Amino acid sequence: MNDYIATNRSLWNGWAQLHAGSSFYDVDGFKAGRLSLMSVELEELGDVAGQTLLHLQCHFGQDTLSWARKGAQVTGADLSNEAIALARSLSRELDIPAEFICANIYDLPQILERQFDIVYTSYGVLCWLPDLRRWAEIIAGYLKPGGTFYMVEFHPLMGMLDDETGERLAYPYFCGPEPMCYETEGSYAVATDHTHTAYEWSHGLGEVVTSLIDAGLTIQFLHEFPYSVYNDRPFLEESEPGQYVWLGRPGLVPLMYSVRATKPAR
Ligand SMILES: C[S@@+](CC[C@H](N)C(=O)[O-])C[C@H]1O[C@@H](n2cnc3c(N)ncnc32)[C@H](O)[C@@H]1O
Repeated sequence: MNDYIATNRSLWNGWAQLHAGSSFYDVDGFKAGRLSLMSVELEELGDVAGQTLLHLQCHFGQDTLSWARKGAQVTGADLSNEAIALARSLSRELDIPAEFICANIYDLPQILERQFDIVYTSYGVLCWLPDLRRWAEIIAGYLKPGGTFYMVEFHPLMGMLDDETGERLAYPYFCGPEPMCYETEGSYAVATDHTHTAYEWSHGLGEVVTSLIDAGLTIQFLHEFPYSVYNDRPFLEESEPGQYVWLGRPGLVPLMYSVRATKPAR
């Protein structure tokens, strides 16, 4: 694990503890039976009952366990040992069968060798990864022939907008091997004076899709959305329940995208 990933692991260990007690993640509601999944992934991935599902970058496991509540046999993997400890304790407490593995995604193939019907990842994952070509190869390696990969992610165009107003292009669309470095204060889910260094890489749509194609997957769709399902910027407003658009400028830029791809059957 290089220094960038080690620093991000320390950041996510702190955030996992903050998030477990946050209203954003509403763990009490989850324990009472709430699904943490959004309608986008529920509709676009569809029926998962009876299927094996690997959730990459699962954080503390609410989405993974939600897929289990929908009938999947789930495995979640994440860099943060604190997040994985929380995920395991939620699984035990709620008696939802799940396997959780702590690993840097690039090391996961050394630890986990099975193949799955579905590989899933969502919302705020790619910016933590330096190498999408290797990421896509790992996904392809984990899919059974005929298996499905599904991801839903914040759009890289949204990632370029300044955090306060969205009026300026503040961050690059393209990124080389060296990450952007910044100091966090609190997190996207919790406002506190907790500070930490973070390293992120931006990845354009072409890089994402071409990495998946080069890894041997067949793209079924690439959807772009004019709304976000998270109200995590001051310049967003709710247009319909659970859909947040740019205040006064709905539809100007895409805010999320999703990709579904399959691994060819032998
Ligand atoms: C924004 S969260 C995923 C969000 C998820 N949709 C949720 O809200 O529960 C990003 C996750 O990526 C994980 N992560 C970051 N870098 C990673 C890496 N190199 N390998 C594996 N997981 C990583 C973090 O620990 C964190 O849990």
